[in-house]
Amino acid sequence: MSEAQNIQWFPGHMAKTRRQIKAVMPLIDAVAEVVDARIPVSSRNPELKSLTAGKPIIILLNKCDMADPKATEEWIRYYKTKGISAIGIDCKNGKGINQFKDTVKTALADRLNYYAEKGMVGKPLRVMVAGIPNVGKSSFINRIAGGSKAKAENRPGVTRGNQWFTIDKQLELLDTPGILWPRFEDKTVGEHLAFTGAVKDRILDTELLAVRLLELLASLYPEKLTARFGELDLTADSFDLLCQIGKKRGMVIRGGETDTERAANMLLEEYRSCKIGNLTLERVNYNA
Ligand code: G4P
Repeated sequence: MSEAQNIQWFPGHMAKTRRQIKAVMPLIDAVAEVVDARIPVSSRNPELKSLTAGKPIIILLNKCDMADPKATEEWIRYYKTKGISAIGIDCKNGKGINQFKDTVKTALADRLNYYAEKGMVGKPLRVMVAGIPNVGKSSFINRIAGGSKAKAENRPGVTRGNQWFTIDKQLELLDTPGILWPRFEDKTVGEHLAFTGAVKDRILDTELLAVRLLELLASLYPEKLTARFGELDLTADSFDLLCQIGKKRGMVIRGGETDTERAANMLLEEYRSCKIGNLTLERVNYNA
């Protein structure tokens, strides 16, 4: 998907995707869930765990090039404490991709041993790649599968068009059937997806969005804000902060007031293009 989008999630589509995923479950050994490393909570699908019926999930924290490296490491450590394998990847530059095969084989070592015991040596591990729109699933598959051509799968119970990719003798990947949705009923999730550009701005008020982003940045990265925009009164409320930032950039309208709409667009653009820094907006909550 090449464009940030504003998909409407209809109950009918969701039911279809659930059915399609359940149908492929018997064929796969694990799921690789691609998430956005800047928002590892909001970019997950809320139902994947139950849909995959206990199959191991390997988390791919993608877009690491735009995230805070320390926060990414902390997320990886956190998942480890939960018994989940996670790696940081950057599909734009190809970083971390070569860890994927070994991570899968380590996470599924029991499965490989089982195949060996049963004399099924050579049976490949089959992993479904899943994720909500815009996290980088296609970019990941392009990176890992390179030129390998998708082959059609015609087993019973599997819809035509399921895309399997052979990665090596021991590993095959399945592109997710259906489109997964985020936890869209949660307002914070919607805002965080909009901050990163995963959903379009116009569903939310730009100024409100910028004010909410500033609130978060002032608490997580105050020093990055001042490094980018100069000295600021960070104790002010977030709307006032937006006015301060706009003024610093000369975005003033008649009467000396800040053009807050321009300031809001500038802030969102500078966040998304990492001009303020590589910032992760969601941190590990060990109590969750
Ligand atoms: P999807 O299949 O999950 O919907 O996501 P897709 O691969 O289409 O990626 C969505 C956008 O995210 C694309 O940008 C893609 O280039 C970008 N992207 C994917 N992985 C990474 C990454 O690791 N780092 C960075 N910085 N960007 C990444 P786009 O602007 O929508 O399209 P385009 O710029 O590729 O034309």
